[in-house]
Amino acid sequence: MISDPRSESTIFRGPGTLPYFDLLLERLDRGRPDLDLAFGRHVHWGYWADPRRADRSPQDFARAAEALSQRVWRAALLKDGMSVLDAGCGFGGTIASLNENFQGMELVGLNIDRRQLERACGKLVPRAGNRIRLEEGDACAMPFPDAAFDAVLAVECIFHFPGREAFFREARRVLKPGGILALSDFVPKGYFRPLSASRFARRMLEPLFGTCRMDHTLKDYRRLGRETGFVSLWEEDIARNTVPTYPFLRRIQRDLTGAESWNKLGSYAAQWVSRFNWLRYMILAFHKLD
Ligand SMILES: C[S@@+](CC[C@H](N)C(=O)[O-])C[C@H]1O[C@@H](n2cnc3c(N)ncnc32)[C@H](O)[C@@H]1O
Repeated sequence: MISDPRSESTIFRGPGTLPYFDLLLERLDRGRPDLDLAFGRHVHWGYWADPRRADRSPQDFARAAEALSQRVWRAALLKDGMSVLDAGCGFGGTIASLNENFQGMELVGLNIDRRQLERACGKLVPRAGNRIRLEEGDACAMPFPDAAFDAVLAVECIFHFPGREAFFREARRVLKPGGILALSDFVPKGYFRPLSASRFARRMLEPLFGTCRMDHTLKDYRRLGRETGFVSLWEEDIARNTVPTYPFLRRIQRDLTGAESWNKLGSYAAQWVSRFNWLRYMILAFHKLD
């Protein structure tokens, strides 16, 4: 368990650390209020109900990132008093959001990168009878007993995990009977999968984003759910609502410059495949069968 946010050096690099988090942590440590506003809480794409109203400011992006997180946790049908695991919790933004919106919760964040947990730990203050715990570990080999949680969330991180099937099996194991797994992911249409899963796509993404496997179509997810003991509860494609993320990322790219940064071409390509809906951004929820 992480207890003192300042107990370890922030230059720790362990298995599972990702290049974009190395950059982000370094820039945040130097004190960048604009980056802190945009990515100090959530590190994921934004959701705009009306994408035409996006104004490319860090404030607007932070609101959109919070809205995306809320859409994922709403899919898990949460209620006061539940125990919730946020797998791949980043800087704890989703835990913070749950802490602000529910009471009497047991909120647990799991992350493979200890530096992120240290940052989260310094910011999270439990309220209204909530308890918050942060654990270091792999979402595919969780340090939790069976049937420990009412819900498991994974906001925009499953593509980094060692395997989706291993994660689904672990999520099922740690969920109580009737529990819900809710996640967001980049989900290619069948005809786009050969490109999204190609070596070319990996070469575009890996220098900045590390290992990303964008190879699960909706059909694959439905099969995975069935084969691991879940029934599908919710499927929502919000790709068009996330598109303003790309111009915002380009706008702040000067803060993430360097040989490893995501090139503009890659960013435009991702924006257009999202707009054309070849690469969907989906919120999916699954109900654990008893
Ligand atoms: C795009 S970030 C999303 C962070 C957070 N869910 C959010 O929405 O702000 C992906 C996260 O997955 C975490 N991650 C990657 N591989 C992991 C693993 N095997 N187990 C647990 N967390 C992992 C990363 O450290 C990072 O925090």
